[in-house]
This record gives sequence, structure tokens and C-alpha cells, in this order.
Amino acid sequence: MPGSPSSPVALVTGGARRVGAAISRALADAGFRVWIHHRRSDDEANRLRTEIGTERCAVARADLASPAERSALIAEVADPEGPFDGRLDLLVNNAASFEHGTFEERTDDDLRRVLEVNFVAPLSLVRGLLPRLRAARPPSDLVPTPCVVNVLDLGALTPWPGYVDHCAAKAALENATRSLAVALAPHVRVSAVVPGTVLWPDDPAFAEGAPARRRIEARIPLRRPGTPHDVARAVLYLAAAPYVTGEIHRVDGGRLAAAGVSGPTEA
Ligand SMILES: NC(=O)c1ccc[n+]([C@@H]2O[C@H](COP(=O)([O-])OP(=O)(O)OC[C@H]3O[C@@H](n4cnc5c(N)ncnc54)[C@H](OP(=O)(O)O)[C@@H]3O)[C@@H](O)[C@H]2O)c1
Repeated sequence: MPGSPSSPVALVTGGARRVGAAISRALADAGFRVWIHHRRSDDEANRLRTEIGTERCAVARADLASPAERSALIAEVADPEGPFDGRLDLLVNNAASFEHGTFEERTDDDLRRVLEVNFVAPLSLVRGLLPRLRAARPPSDLVPTPCVVNVLDLGALTPWPGYVDHCAAKAALENATRSLAVALAPHVRVSAVVPGTVLWPDDPAFAEGAPARRRIEARIPLRRPGTPHDVARAVLYLAAAPYVTGEIHRVDGGRLAAAGVSGPTEA
């Protein structure tokens, strides 16, 4: 029964809004009990908790750039006296920053900040929560062995000149996904989702009809941007597939496959 005391438990970082909210909702709809992590989106997190049901959903706040706040988040989720008795079957490292700027104008401190949130924090959460992942019982069809899903970005696999720091951090997480899949087997599986564009950034440069947006749309063979639910569906698949680990799973409408095609993808 969804949300019963034996249901598996997931933690979704940045799970209160946008793509993270779609993942939190889809996991809850499938039968997971869900920890929604957030930093600034208190209202969105609490609204989503009410929507999912307070018995099946808990909220935790932490700035993932802060090692002390990461440790507190780990302790809260792992607490045997906590809402889900410290159980954790699935960790979805979704939270990320998306910082833009030319290489020359950005600084070493900018680079360190991006690496801390987009690369160090996901690994730190895996390390801190590993004992709870390894202990998760009983197994469920939703997640037959404990699992980590890292949310990457096409920028991990292909260069974006205005986002050097972001791409480097996501590329490091892509590599770590494969290393961890080997290091943590056979008890914990580790895979990643690589979304293409599924929600446009809140930036006028990507407004409806803007040239940057039309350029991206023209490069998607499936002829449309994806949706947050497309990403959530991939997370559910990776969690449930018992023989899948180390998988870097693209959800990009074929955009990377078409990367070598010059100009729009239509004939
Ligand atoms: N949107 C897309 O089309 C797209 C495309 C490719 C990949 N992705 C990837 O998919 C994931 C979600 O994308 P999105 O567009 O929904 O992301 P987003 O809105 O830019 O950020 C997601 C969440 O990350 C949290 N976050 C950021 N910095 C944080 C920090 N220092 N500490 C704790 N939390 C922090 C924020 O939580 P609060 O709001 O609570 O502060 C935010 O809601 C990201 O990993 C992104 O790289 C997205």
C-alpha cells in the first residue's frame, strides 16, 4: 500500500519546485515515502508535503554549499526516531546551481562554489547516507536494491562556453556516477539521468521566441523540449531496474545524438 510503514523511502534534493517537484510527486504517486529537501523554497516544500500527504512526506532544509548543513541533513534523514525511522532506499541528487558567465570574468571562488553544490554535495550525501542505504529493508519492486540517481545535464557531455564551471562540475559527477557504481556494488546501485531542456531557465534570454530558445528547439530531433515528468519517469525506471547500475541515461529528445549534425535537424 502506498505510504505504508514498509514502503520504500526516497530523498529528493531540491525537491520542492520545478524538476525536483515533479520527481517528488512521481515517486510519491508510485508508492514511495518522500523526503523533500529544499533551501529557500519553504512554502513550495510545505505545499507539496500537504499535497502528497503529511504521513508520506517530510521536509528538510539545508544549504548544500555548507558542510555543516549537509551533515545536519544527513543526521535528520538517518535519525531512527525520525518520521521514516531512518530508512532510505533511494537518494536523488537533483539540486544544482546554474551559473553563467564568460571564463575570463568568473573567479576561482565562483568555480569552487559551483563545484561544492553540484559535485561535492552529491558525493557527500552519498557517503553520509550510505549506512542507511545499505540497511534499507525490506526490498520493494520500486527499488529492489538501494539506489542513487544523480541528475546531470547535457553540459556534462558536451561543451557550453558560457557555463564552463557548471559543465565541469556536472562532468565530474558523471564520472563519479560510474566510479561509485563499481565501488558500491553489489549492495547499492548508482546511475544518472541526463536531461536535455525540460524547463527553460527564468531568464529573458530564453523567453518564448527568443533566438537562443529557437536555436535549441531546432536541434531536438523529437521536435519539442522535454517535461519535468520525462525526467521523473527516468528516475523511477533507474530505481526499479534491478540489473542497471552505472547507467548514464539521456532524456534529451535525441539532442546529443544530433550534436554532430550542423544546423537544424529537419531534412
Ligand atoms: N531545467 C532543465 O531543463 C534542466 C536541463 C538539464 C538538466 N537539469 C538538471 O535538473 C536538475 C533540476 O533542474 P531545475 O531546472 O529544476 O533546477 P533549478 O530550479 O535551477 O534548481 C533546483 C533546486 O536546487 C536547489 N538548490 C540550488 N542551490 C542549492 C544549494 N546551495 N543548497 C541547496 N539546494 C540548492 C534549489 O532549492 P530551493 O529552491 O529550495 O532553494 C532549487 O529549487 C538540476 O540538477 C539541473 O542541472 C535541468
